[in-house]
Amino acid sequence: MNLLVTGGCGFIGSNFIRQRLTEAGSPLRRLVNLDVLTYAGNPANLADLAGDPRYVFVQGDIGDEALVSRLLAEHQIDAIANFAAESHVDRSIDSPEPFIQTNVVGTLRLLNATRRYWAALPAERKVGFRFLHVSTDEVYGTLHAGDAPWNEECPYEPNSPYAASKASSDHLVRSFQHTYGFPTLTTNCSNNYGPYHFPEKLIPLVILNALEGKPLPVYGDGQQIRDWLYVEDHAAAIWLVIQKGRVGETYNVGGLNERPNLEIVRRICSLLDAKSPRADGKPYADQITFVADRPGHDRRYAIDSSKLRRELGWVPRENFDTGIEKTVNWYLNHRAWAADITQRRYQRQRLGTGT
Ligand SMILES: NC(=O)c1ccc[n+]([C@@H]2O[C@H](COP(=O)([O-])OP(=O)(O)OC[C@H]3O[C@@H](n4cnc5c(N)ncnc54)[C@H](O)[C@@H]3O)[C@@H](O)[C@H]2O)c1
Repeated sequence: MNLLVTGGCGFIGSNFIRQRLTEAGSPLRRLVNLDVLTYAGNPANLADLAGDPRYVFVQGDIGDEALVSRLLAEHQIDAIANFAAESHVDRSIDSPEPFIQTNVVGTLRLLNATRRYWAALPAERKVGFRFLHVSTDEVYGTLHAGDAPWNEECPYEPNSPYAASKASSDHLVRSFQHTYGFPTLTTNCSNNYGPYHFPEKLIPLVILNALEGKPLPVYGDGQQIRDWLYVEDHAAAIWLVIQKGRVGETYNVGGLNERPNLEIVRRICSLLDAKSPRADGKPYADQITFVADRPGHDRRYAIDSSKLRRELGWVPRENFDTGIEKTVNWYLNHRAWAADITQRRYQRQRLGTGT
C-alpha cells in the first residue's frame, strides 16, 4: 500500500506515521507526508524516521490541487489519511478564517483532486481505494451531566468556529461518498493526549508550565469534562478503519475516560511531585490559577465508541492512569523538544489553557 498522510508533522499525524513505519509486518511500500508546516507542524516530530526509505516528506498545502494531483499520481497512492487542519479552539475564537480556509476549502480541494485521481484508477485499484477523514467529537456540541455519550447517529451542533469548520468538512466528505460513490470513511474522536502534543494544549501546557515554575491556568471552575484518549490508541483506530471500515461509514473513537479539566491538572501535579519534585518541596498544585472561562465553552464531551469496538474489534491499550504517566514521563525526557518549540516557533501571544 502507498499511503498519503496530510498534516503528518502535527501531534496526531506524527504519532500515526511513527506507528505505521515502526509496526511489525507493515504493508506500506511508501508513506508520503504532505504538510504545509503551520506553527503547529514540526518536522522534528519525525526526525527519527527521516532515514526510512519508505518515507517521503513534502511541504505543501492540502488546498493546492495541482500539487495533490501530482503526488497522487507520482506515488500511486492507495489510501489517504487526512489529519491536516487548524486544530486549536482558542485560535478559532480569535480568528476563524484560517479554519475555514484549511478545514473547509482545503478539505474540499483535497477531495476534488483525489476524486479525479480515483475515478481514473483501474477497476481493481479503484475498489480498494480509501479516503479517511480525521474529525472530532466537538462537532456534536456539548452534553449535560447524565446525557448519554454521543454515538454516530447524534445530530451535529458545533459550538465553536473550529467545531463548525470540522463539521463542514465532515459534511463535504459525506457528500462526496453519497454523490460520487467516492470511498470515504470518517472518524470522530475525543480529546487526545500523549507525546508530541503542541504546548498550547492543556496537558502539555500544564506539564511544561509546572516544571518552569509558571502558573497553571484553569478555565472557569475547571469542571469542563473531556473524554481523554491516548494518541496511539487513536492512531491504531484510524488504521483499523482504513483497513477494515465499511465505506461511507462514520466511526466514533473515545477512551471511556471522562475527567474534569481540574482533575487532569491535579493528576499531573501529583505525578510531577513524585517524579520531579519542586526545589522548595511545595506541591505543584500551588501553581494552579483559575482564569476567565473561554467564551461559549462546551461543558462536557463523551463518546460512545461501541460501533468501532463491535464491528472492527478496536480496544484501547491505555487507560487514563497508564496513558497520563507515559505522557508525563515523555515530557520529562524530552525537555529539549518543548524548549525548541517554545523558543523558536511559538509566538506566545496569549496563555492557552484549552483542550
Ligand atoms: N488533538 C485532538 O485532541 C483531536 C481530537 C480529535 C480530532 N482531531 C483532529 O485530528 C487532526 C489532527 O489534529 P492534531 O491535534 O494533530 O493537530 P495539530 O494542530 O497538532 O496538527 C495539524 C497539522 O496540520 C498541518 N496543516 C495545517 N494546515 C495545513 C494545510 N492547509 N495543508 C497541509 N497541512 C496543514 C500543520 O502544519 C500541522 O502539522 C485534526 O484534523 C483535528 O481536527 C484532533
